[in-house]
Amino acid sequence: MIKKGIILAGGSGTRLSPLTKAVNKQLLPVYDKPMIFYPLSVMMLANIRKILMIVNPGQIESFKNLLGDGSRYGINISYKIQEKPRGLPDAFNLGKSFIQNDNVALILGDNFFYGQSLTKTLEKSSQHRSGATIFLKEVSAPENYGVAKIKKNKIENIVEKPKKFISNKAITGLYFFDKNVSDYTAKLKRSKRGELEITDLIKEYKKRKKLKYELIGRGAIWSDAGKMEDLNNVSNYVRSVEKVQGIKIACLEEISLLKKWINKNKIKKNINFYGDCEYSAYLKKIIN
Ligand code: TTP
Repeated sequence: MIKKGIILAGGSGTRLSPLTKAVNKQLLPVYDKPMIFYPLSVMMLANIRKILMIVNPGQIESFKNLLGDGSRYGINISYKIQEKPRGLPDAFNLGKSFIQNDNVALILGDNFFYGQSLTKTLEKSSQHRSGATIFLKEVSAPENYGVAKIKKNKIENIVEKPKKFISNKAITGLYFFDKNVSDYTAKLKRSKRGELEITDLIKEYKKRKKLKYELIGRGAIWSDAGKMEDLNNVSNYVRSVEKVQGIKIACLEEISLLKKWINKNKIKKNINFYGDCEYSAYLKKIIN
């Protein structure tokens, strides 16, 4: 079982500058919510309630103003500062004492997942006992991603940003790892760009024949929101789905209420916290 999750919400956010000069990328709006709500909702849908949030120096207060210790959503959030962006696997150096001897999920703070089959896939994979599970999604421009080549339902090869086509299955920013992850991370060497690379960590599991995958099907979408164009596309997507269906994507209270982690009284308090806004109006609708 996976009960702990790390959200990487640091990084430099260079591609979104000047937006990110004063505000952390993960606190920028994706339509009607801060970006961080979306990866947090994915963790919650996977029944992960113990969260470590990795943030940049000087930014813990902003995150705490928004999310506090998580009790508002029936979860537990602790924070850790990453002094500089040393790459994605650095999460497992910083999170060593959080992980202890348990399995752990990692999600990138700028990743957006939404869709029909997703909850089932997440719940199934969170039963995960040993090894690593990566989540793949078919994309039209695989040269921009780390990709996995699948043969006979097995991962045959992993390549970072392949110049020549080998597969259209991109490795998304959600990963489940077993308790060995900090040990394997300690063995990684920095790449040419001076960072620890997640593909190298995944390859450690592949080497030991401990790497599994889940394919995110057509009924679900995945995007990262790290570029202007993608940030805008994801915002527009959320807006259209919410407008047509009258629901909200990544309403944390709605997920938590469904799982019986919080009650209606708690939601009333949250409405006071947010004040008179559309999000509060939606919460009122849920509890009535
Ligand atoms: P990236 O999008 O690869 O990097 P970035 O956020 O620094 O943006 P840019 O490339 O435009 O400079 O990071 C993916 C996610 O992981 C993002 O949500 C930020 C987070 N991250 C960290 O928290 N620490 C890190 O060391 C890195 C590399 C990323």
